[in-house]
Amino acid sequence: MNQIKLIFGTLIYVAFGCNYSTETYKEGKILFTSQCAGCHGELFDGLGKLYPSLKDITYIKSKRGELACWIHQGIGTDGGAFHMRHSDLPMPPISRLSAIEITNILNYVNSQIWKMEAFNIQEIEATLNTCPEIKKQQ
Ligand code: HEC
Repeated sequence: MNQIKLIFGTLIYVAFGCNYSTETYKEGKILFTSQCAGCHGELFDGLGKLYPSLKDITYIKSKRGELACWIHQGIGTDGGAFHMRHSDLPMPPISRLSAIEITNILNYVNSQIWKMEAFNIQEIEATLNTCPEIKKQQ
């Protein structure tokens, strides 16, 4: 009987554990679709010269510690620290997103294309705490 309980408990644990991780990406997917896909596309391909694809994986990997700040304060915005790389349009800041929402978005994209080690909330909070300040224009 105890053995049966143990097996049953393990099954629940496994089912719950898997469910938890897909739920994380599900939230990230919903947020990506509403906050990012309008420009970068649901398949991360971007839109011609206007919006870059998110598939420059080598570059993204080298900028792991800046990604959350790009989302929070934009790229190429007035007074911002991040300069445009594609120099067609700036990426507007989406500063209302919380650290957990940014974590979920990055983990969703990561699970689909970047395939780095997963992000966790502590890492993203630490990144957000060190984002360079936006300098006020005179
Ligand atoms: C209004 C359109 C728009 C939205 C919405 C938007 N972006 Fe961007 N994004 C851009 C543009 C334009 C650039 C290129 C800026 C530049 O020239 O470097 C960019 C650049 C990026 C880059 C760098 C790509 C590279 O290889 O240089 C990443 C990563 C990124 N965006 C992620 C996101 C994520 C994640 C979201 C949603 C939270 C998002 N973006 C929302 C327009 C947008």
